Amino acid sequence: MEQQRGNWSSNFGFILAATGSAIGLGNLWKFPFITWDNGGGAFVLVYLVCIAAVGLPIMMAELLIGRKTQKSAIGALREAVGPLWGLVGGWGVLCGFILLSYYTVIAGWSLFYFTKTVTWSTGGFPSDLSMGELFGAQSGNGGLQLIISLLFSIATVSVVYFGVQKGIERIARIFLPVLFAILALMLVSALTMSGSGEALAFIFRPNFAELRPSGVLEALGHSFFTLSLGMGLMITYGSYMDRTQSIVKASAIIIVLDTVVALVATVIMFSVIFSVAGMADEIGGSTVGMLFISLPELFYTVVPFGRILGPLFYVLIALAALTSSMSLLEVVTSYVIDEHGLERHKATLMCGASVFVFTVLAALSFGSTPWLSTMEIFDGKIGWFSTADHFVSNWMLPTGGLAITLAAGWFMTRETTEGELLDGIQPGWFSYGAWRFFIRFVAPIAVAAIIIAVLFFNVDFS
Ligand code: PFF
Repeated sequence: MEQQRGNWSSNFGFILAATGSAIGLGNLWKFPFITWDNGGGAFVLVYLVCIAAVGLPIMMAELLIGRKTQKSAIGALREAVGPLWGLVGGWGVLCGFILLSYYTVIAGWSLFYFTKTVTWSTGGFPSDLSMGELFGAQSGNGGLQLIISLLFSIATVSVVYFGVQKGIERIARIFLPVLFAILALMLVSALTMSGSGEALAFIFRPNFAELRPSGVLEALGHSFFTLSLGMGLMITYGSYMDRTQSIVKASAIIIVLDTVVALVATVIMFSVIFSVAGMADEIGGSTVGMLFISLPELFYTVVPFGRILGPLFYVLIALAALTSSMSLLEVVTSYVIDEHGLERHKATLMCGASVFVFTVLAALSFGSTPWLSTMEIFDGKIGWFSTADHFVSNWMLPTGGLAITLAAGWFMTRETTEGELLDGIQPGWFSYGAWRFFIRFVAPIAVAAIIIAVLFFNVDFS
């Protein structure tokens, strides 16, 4: 029997939910680190170009496929393009499944650091504590890892369980404004710090000598991750839109908000880092290090109002992660509902539990279980977690993205895509011809470049 599909209660609700999906650990955990690693300004500039030239057209393509068909990833591609394209949707669902399984682990860490910072803020920061050791002890403690990732999974399942409007949209409506408020508070505090000038110069003054060719591809690869593209998430969210909403306007707003948050988070973190003599040299070579090893202590030593902002910062990470993890679970759940006719509650619990089996593997791969921590399938990617992240970021998202550009640019008719994109906007405001050029030529060539770089030149986005 055909079930009643969910839909967003309003345009605003949809924009918040989709922005919540986009803003996540990619903005707070990955972007600042890769900006650091790639030398700042020039990388940021290239990233902005990638977001506008590739991310924006693909976002519109995904949303239009979803809204046109009113189906989740697999059914939508099958209906919009052809039966074999269901496989591309299936690839996306699998990608959502894997990504959610390890995303939950990092999100769990934010819960751990939240409780730690609350204890330090109320009971005083212990002077003899090494942050590196603390991090190693928590990530290597299998029992603790399982508990915190289970807690986070339960939170994710609880949202999706209540459906599109009462679960996802409602949580996005509450949490996103809170997230923006925390970020604004932290920005104000960061800008008063002595390192803020240096941080702003590092981020916004391009120095092309610092930019490696692989940085360009890394910027492009990250634009998929951060905008939740390449795995059918925006197809799924688009399928709950109604025809009065403009896809073009919504895409522009989502992209601008996601980019602003990534930049603000980077300004905040770098202002703190540049305010401490010698700190810049200590930032290790890992994404994890900046957020969970370098920063926690600095809240208690240099950040103005750090005793309040420290716990708030980790709440911010947890909220951003939740609005993304719920969207990932929705991709998997909506597939089971649409394609197998399962009722939402059952489907959510089943999908949540299945994903958690793989979360266990990721959670135990930081030292607590030797074979999970030392396995190596891809060169230099040690452990289950890094293997999964490498597979998703380097292989799944770019290939999925390429397929979607081809679907919308080459396989769907001009009338269909034009009709969807011109709905709800004033003529003259948007050039359909420009979109078509980008989705047919610029985006596929750029994404193919990523795939070639991964295949033949060992470039790494994870
Ligand atoms: N965009 C999220 C982030 O930046 O953390 C990650 C993500 C969520 C990717 C949902 C893909 C997705 F479908």
